[in-house]
Amino acid sequence: MPVKVSAPGKVHLVGEHAVVYGEPAIMAAVGLRTYVDAERERGSVIVEDFQRKFKAKWDLKGVLDFSEEARKIWESGAGKKPADFSGLFSFVKGDDFKKAVIGTTLSKLGIMEGVKVRITSEIPTGSGLGSSSALSVAIVKAVSEAYGKKLPLEKINEIAFGCEQLAHGMPSGGDNSTCCFGGLIWFQKDIKTGKFIIKSLRKEVPYEMKEFVLVYTGKPEKTTGELVQQVRMHEPEFRDPRIKRIGEITREMLGALKERDSEGIKSLINEDWTLLRDFGLSTPTADKLIEKIKSMGGAAKLCGACGGGMMLAYHEDLDRLKKAIKSEGFDPMEVKLGVEGVRVE
Ligand code: MEV
Repeated sequence: MPVKVSAPGKVHLVGEHAVVYGEPAIMAAVGLRTYVDAERERGSVIVEDFQRKFKAKWDLKGVLDFSEEARKIWESGAGKKPADFSGLFSFVKGDDFKKAVIGTTLSKLGIMEGVKVRITSEIPTGSGLGSSSALSVAIVKAVSEAYGKKLPLEKINEIAFGCEQLAHGMPSGGDNSTCCFGGLIWFQKDIKTGKFIIKSLRKEVPYEMKEFVLVYTGKPEKTTGELVQQVRMHEPEFRDPRIKRIGEITREMLGALKERDSEGIKSLINEDWTLLRDFGLSTPTADKLIEKIKSMGGAAKLCGACGGGMMLAYHEDLDRLKKAIKSEGFDPMEVKLGVEGVRVE
């Protein structure tokens, strides 16, 4: 019998990109999930991804060798000054990411046997909702369960973070941590030690955050790794003050969320977006829709790596907000925020 697990996607309320530089982010697990069925398989790795209409059967050794090679390319890219992952991005492409995740998981768990994995997902890929993180976390959990291993969440998160590095180069770890632990979290990475600070904000923000909606604005042209690199390439004199201010915005946002201060929440989202936009992370479509939302007294920003993908919009009058979004030809999505993390179904 296969084991079935699921992991949620994530959304940054604030703090994306700055979190890569050690600033905090406030992130919520969203009510769209990736489901993975896994069962033991002798000598090969079989993958079926229904969302991407992808099917493959790989020889086990090939999968282990691929993930080992990807790790070596990552290490050489990370060792360069500045770090350069272009070699990694051309090695781990598209559906080969699944090979890297499964190979990494098997070797980290010391499992020298194969696995059959079936994936279905409600999370649009490459859209700022943590599709790769949800997939990594769900695969690590599903494969370990299929082999009778009960891993603590911290261990699942650690392995999934290693997989995320193979997809994005130098991610902060916030995405996989949110998909793994779930809920509404404060995430920060100590840049010197690499240690994660993950704090649930459930006590401070106990209510359902129903004033937020998501809007899909179209597929980003660049990957997360490329967009993170784009921010890094800005001159430090331009980049660093903006990154620092985004960190302050995140701290102020916690206060505004605690107080349910709508005006504060809106002005912080809008300021956050102005700073992210300065890094060239917008699109004409997003600009137009954000202007519309702001003109009716709301707030909006792109999510995650940005450059298109999912938009997070906020207004205390949800019906008016949805109407405004629809009037521009988009489809507002009401999703639950702060849902459960990875779990066996
Ligand atoms: C991507 O979802 C969020 C970024 O901040 C990158 C990261 O945290 O790894 C852009």
